[in-house]
Amino acid sequence: MAKAPSVRADMTFLDLEDSVAPAEKVAARARVAEAVRSLAWDDRVLCVRVNAWDTPWTYGDVIEVVGSAGPRLDEVMLPKVQSAAEVVALDLLLTQVEKNAGLEPGQIGIEAQIETARGLINVDEICAASPRLETIIFGPADFAASIEMPVLTGGVAIDEYPGDHFHYVFSRILMAGRANGLQVIDGPFLKVRELDALRTFAQRTRVLGYDGKWALTPDQAEVLNDVYSPTQEQFDRAWDILEAYRVATEEHRTGAVMFGDEMIDEASRKMALKFVARGERAGRQRSAT
Ligand code: GLV
Ligand code: MG
Repeated sequence: MAKAPSVRADMTFLDLEDSVAPAEKVAARARVAEAVRSLAWDDRVLCVRVNAWDTPWTYGDVIEVVGSAGPRLDEVMLPKVQSAAEVVALDLLLTQVEKNAGLEPGQIGIEAQIETARGLINVDEICAASPRLETIIFGPADFAASIEMPVLTGGVAIDEYPGDHFHYVFSRILMAGRANGLQVIDGPFLKVRELDALRTFAQRTRVLGYDGKWALTPDQAEVLNDVYSPTQEQFDRAWDILEAYRVATEEHRTGAVMFGDEMIDEASRKMALKFVARGERAGRQRSAT
């Protein structure tokens, strides 16, 4: 936890779930709350992952951690979400905990992990379950276990499969998330020493439209910042499209215009805006022309 604030990431979550041994679950709560309060976090999104509702720990995690972590905590992550009711239950509990802790009502956001067959089947309702929801996340390791996929490492390519074994799942979650205005995030890549393989695998969700992917190490974070941020060339081209389209619509009063050897219109403007917003978030500046 002490290392986490120095890792270049847009968001960090401190875990009470699968990386904490059962014998340490209760003791971990106070340590996580203390880390939220006392470490020098920058403006990143700060989150705590609680245990799933099918364990004995969820309500205790929320009451103890959200109740004592203070205003710096932005979100709670709920793993293995199977139904909209699980999100509603967390929302209701958060409302009471916020009141008792002197926090703004509704200030704690929710990130939901889809990592079971039932969760995927119910993903539309889950994504619409609460105004606190900010992000939907795919959890490949638990998901593979849930559907009984014969793999021993989660979230990596399977060479025997002629294509992307998770393509349907990635797309299904993306549609539900976007239809409800959520960020959509891909989960972990467990072969932490294989950075080139991570880069290749991450392109799958980047190209579909995902916003980002979990990093398990500082080195993974560097690779992922690169994969999920527009290149300088894309960023500059997006600005050029916006400018050409502005001139076309405002000065020449036409809604479609040639840009080099392609036609651009209002949809092109919308695509370009996404690159500009993401590039600016990643610290890019337009190259001098
Ligand atoms: C993440 O939680 C996963 O199960 O992949
Ligand atoms: Mg999981």
